Amino acid sequence: MSITVIILAAGKGTRMKSALPKVLQPLANTPLLGHVIHTAKQLHPKRIITIYGHGGELVKQAFADEQIDWVEQAEQLGTGHAVQMTLPVLPTDGLSLILYGDVPLVSLQTLQRLLEASKDSGIGMITLNVEDPTGYGRIIRQDGKIQSIIEHKDANAEQRQIHEINTGIYCVSNAKLHQWLPKLSNHNVQGEYYLTDIIAMAVADGLEIASIEPEFRFEVEGVNDRLQLARLECEWQNYQAEQLMRQGLHIVDPHRFDLRGSLKFGCDVRIDINVIIEGDCELGDNVQIGAGCVLKNTKIASGTVVQPYSVFDSAIVGQNNQIGPFSRLRPNAVLADEVHIGNFVEVKNSRIGFASKANHFTYLGDAEVGCESNIGAGTITCNYDGANKHKTTIGDHAFIGSNSALVAPVHIGNGATVGAGSVITRDVEAQSLAVERSKQVARANYQRPQKLK
Ligand code: UD1
Ligand code: CA
Repeated sequence: MSITVIILAAGKGTRMKSALPKVLQPLANTPLLGHVIHTAKQLHPKRIITIYGHGGELVKQAFADEQIDWVEQAEQLGTGHAVQMTLPVLPTDGLSLILYGDVPLVSLQTLQRLLEASKDSGIGMITLNVEDPTGYGRIIRQDGKIQSIIEHKDANAEQRQIHEINTGIYCVSNAKLHQWLPKLSNHNVQGEYYLTDIIAMAVADGLEIASIEPEFRFEVEGVNDRLQLARLECEWQNYQAEQLMRQGLHIVDPHRFDLRGSLKFGCDVRIDINVIIEGDCELGDNVQIGAGCVLKNTKIASGTVVQPYSVFDSAIVGQNNQIGPFSRLRPNAVLADEVHIGNFVEVKNSRIGFASKANHFTYLGDAEVGCESNIGAGTITCNYDGANKHKTTIGDHAFIGSNSALVAPVHIGNGATVGAGSVITRDVEAQSLAVERSKQVARANYQRPQKLK
């Protein structure tokens, strides 16, 4: 059975009060519409047709890499009108799933269940029983069978007592859509073309409407304003944390944990409060991440302990490292095993060898450091001459004294020592000492300048 996915994304999203189109607002760092497209793709549909309106160009640009058929709905005359716009490109066979760019979290499993439930009659929908159905379309059933959907504004007092609501997500045969959509009218309280009217049309054609409920309510929740966005983000984060904890991750407080991407982890990994994980990250066995750390596209091998408030971006960290507090690992920082990176140390595009240490106030950029070298407090690799970047190489067992400036390109040999406070502009031979600083002046009984009267 071939599947088409139709995504409605033409709404203005006025209540967001944002220059960014609503469907581009981020949830867990991915645009709302991006979540829907990601889920849709996993169904391997023949086509994904997205209906855009407001902010269309920006929306299209944001998904330029995706295989999507874009259909414009210049005027928003209702959900039925929106889907009518797809008719010229809608296949005539197979089933369509109708989704929404501002309902981001519907799950693959739920959509698969909907497809399965709908395949016999060719029409099905997701409904939900809620405590407060105000505003939603109500499901009218007779002898348990769905007859129609009545919008809240069109419903009478008795119909408004119904707590089963329309989530707006349907699965419909394309042949039927071609038949029904041209027949929609806007004779209702809102003067809109209601997609919901196809349900009564199906019943009139003698079809039985299949229905399922989602596993989680957040799957069918839409975003209209920033409050709803924040609430959905929170529900999604709690859900993800719960999944990870069930898989064995120790999250100290799931309400203070954010995953904006994917996380793979080993055994007994512990994550303290207020940690943010972005992109694709991996943590080996027994890794500990301290409070307030941010990790993006980073891989950390087993046994490494990260102290609070360290920030990682595209770094690769070996086993049994000690990192932080307040360390910053930038793209292409590659640390071997047993490395120590301490407070206010920044590492960028550098490889640090086994058991080397940079414990305080250091910048290592475009550098290569061997094994068991010690980089003293305040050491800076001066990698940038104002026009180009240059490399610093430091051998094994080197000792760089505090507050040294290593002006690249420069090489420090194995076992070499650099005296504190040196500005090193020439290579330092293996096993040698290099000191570059003026002689200390000593004056006994020195009189400091006095204030003028
Ligand atoms: C719709 C349903 C209602 C259901 C509710 C669930 C109809 C007539 N009613 O109501 O039964 O309970 O969703 O949330 O379908 N959109 C367009 N073009 C348009 C109109 C809407 O793209 O011309 C998009 C919006 O951007 C939004 C979605 O369709 O993403 C739903 O539109 P909205 O106006 O919020 O529908 P409701 O009136 O809430
Ligand atoms: Ca509406």
